[in-house]
Amino acid sequence: MALALLVLVWHLAWAQEPGCAEKDEQSFLQTLDILDHVEEEACDLLHPKKGLRWTHSKQIGSHTVYAGNLTVPLSPHREDQEDTPYLDLLVIMTMPTSESAASVEPLLFHCGGPGSDATCALSFMKDQQFNAYAGISISQRGIGYTAMPSFECAKEHMKLPPKGLNRSYVISDFTDCACALPDGTPLVGQAFADLDPKNQSSVHRLFENMALRARRCAADKRWVLTGATGKSYNFLDWAGTRMLAQDIEHFREKTCSPKLHLNGMSYGTAVAAVYADMFPERVGKMVINGNMPPVPFTLDFAKGQGMALTQAFGHLERLCVTWTSTPPCNLYSSEMSLSHVWAQLVSDLRAGRITAPTEIHSKGGTVNFPLSIGLVQGYVQEQMISAGFVPVGWAQPVSTLANLANLRGPAARAAEAKKILDRYCVLPSGYGTPWSGVVTWSTYGVCVGQQSVGLSSMSYSSSLGALGIPPYRKNVDGYVNGATVLGQDLFGRFTVDQAVKIWQDFSSVWDEMATSAFVGIFSEIFAWQREAVPVHAGFRQNVRALVVGNLYDPACSYTWSNRMRESLPNSVMMIWQGVGHCLGEGGDYPGSGMKPCLDRMASYWVTGELPIDGFTCRTEEPVPLLM
Ligand SMILES: *[C@@H]1O[C@H](CO)[C@@H](O)[C@H](O)[C@H]1NC(C)=O
Ligand SMILES: *[C@@H]1O[C@H](CO)[C@@H](O)[C@H](O)[C@H]1NC(C)=O
Ligand SMILES: *[C@@H]1O[C@H](CO)[C@@H](O)[C@H](O)[C@H]1NC(C)=O
Repeated sequence: MALALLVLVWHLAWAQEPGCAEKDEQSFLQTLDILDHVEEEACDLLHPKKGLRWTHSKQIGSHTVYAGNLTVPLSPHREDQEDTPYLDLLVIMTMPTSESAASVEPLLFHCGGPGSDATCALSFMKDQQFNAYAGISISQRGIGYTAMPSFECAKEHMKLPPKGLNRSYVISDFTDCACALPDGTPLVGQAFADLDPKNQSSVHRLFENMALRARRCAADKRWVLTGATGKSYNFLDWAGTRMLAQDIEHFREKTCSPKLHLNGMSYGTAVAAVYADMFPERVGKMVINGNMPPVPFTLDFAKGQGMALTQAFGHLERLCVTWTSTPPCNLYSSEMSLSHVWAQLVSDLRAGRITAPTEIHSKGGTVNFPLSIGLVQGYVQEQMISAGFVPVGWAQPVSTLANLANLRGPAARAAEAKKILDRYCVLPSGYGTPWSGVVTWSTYGVCVGQQSVGLSSMSYSSSLGALGIPPYRKNVDGYVNGATVLGQDLFGRFTVDQAVKIWQDFSSVWDEMATSAFVGIFSEIFAWQREAVPVHAGFRQNVRALVVGNLYDPACSYTWSNRMRESLPNSVMMIWQGVGHCLGEGGDYPGSGMKPCLDRMASYWVTGELPIDGFTCRTEEPVPLLM
């Protein structure tokens, strides 16, 4: 699920390295040309069959990195053989330079999202345990900077209205993309919405708008692709996780690899497990870390997300009650538990009492912009998720709540409110245009962000540039990827009225934190217009995978990891008692207790030896508490 931070981490992980000269690339290309004419004499990772073509390569550290195109039929069905259009997908392969192509086996990495792309494999080159593998990542259909078509809105749709208009600004002042959110829709992220999640009229309006978005987006002409015989296909019916699994299999065939190893994180667990469902006899080693639910039902998915946050927030509070002398929990006295503070904070947010000053002036002076419950939930969840990648545990969410609750005074409170608004209410950045990175809440008095306009911020990557391919990556905030991919993967559609009833039911039991997450994720998919192509993640008797789950994963709950273990009866479960999204070295703080699990994961890749089923790593020190 929501993996913005995972993306951030791999951005950091792949610093530019000095590399080889263009000459090498040239001679490599010549070799390829020659090989094209020698029909399939040798077939391996470096000498693939027609349909996969390596076009760029570069020595980076101990690896040679290859980039190229995997050309896949839009429809893999044999009935469509003559008619189907084709797509070019960006593929990146990291080959340990010390190994020969014949001696390494391919290991597919998927970094989650949906939204991560072919650059995923690059962040694993420094990990010793993968030294005997060729790392592979594919930019799945519709995703990544080079995708054609792309799920996200094109930057050409963006515009900037004049400041100081005598009316409220709306989303269509900033974009005319069909997949942007309709005017009046609060900013909705993958698992939050910028509203009061307990306010029925706000939730109702959100659901209406999201149903409208689903219809408008699906009707966009750009999804219609035409094949050689003139038959049309709708891209939105042919770009979910089942199609990605087909494309992965396509890659395996083209490289004549008998097996494929799989390493999936977050949504990447669904990718690996769906591949395992469809091509079980091709699966080598497989690790799935921070799992998606195996059964693709929209309602369960949304409830599961809400429940993940309930578990996480409850845990946060229990931790703080135990560790009242450890900063930042020492800000809360034991009588003034986090729940108390949170309840007061919610009522302040609901009353519009937590604000930050804008640049807009009216007769009364500077106009203040209020923060919503939903944005706070989204922000705190994001900080809880990031504990999987940075070794600070949950100090950040505890501190955010303390600031907003005025425990450090009004200046800290306003600064925190500004920080949260700046995170979300800002147009996509990195485009070098007048609208790029404009902060909407303070400039225009409206919260319009990447999610509203359906376009993610972009970042420059000098390393990709050195490789010779377009040097940009997109982050995963644009929000269209989630609806388009999960909209295909998940079955279960509801009318707006049904959705409101379901919300009433959920909201009557669960708090603002859980309800806001539920509302955000449910609104994205409950009314998705195109039909589902439901996935089944796992559901295979003989696939021997290592399923990894943290007890307090705020994005992909432990429940989902547990279900994934059920779905793959011959797999092995490994558990860490800690917090954050996915188990990884990045989140390892002193006393985390996760080391035995990290060691077992690493040695599985080296020796193939699995831990005993249910192996559990105990947390040793308080979670929250390093800044
Ligand atoms: C992939 O193919 C497209 C044309 O469909 C081309 O524009 C692009 O440069 C190719 N990318 C790579 C990495 O070879
Ligand atoms: C701006 O709007 C207010 C009320 O909405 C109205 O009274 C005022 O005349 C308007 N000013 C202009 C210049 O249109
Ligand atoms: C619910 O939200 C609407 C705006 O969408 C607002 O006008 C109304 O006062 C809110 N109701 C409550 C009970 O907060």
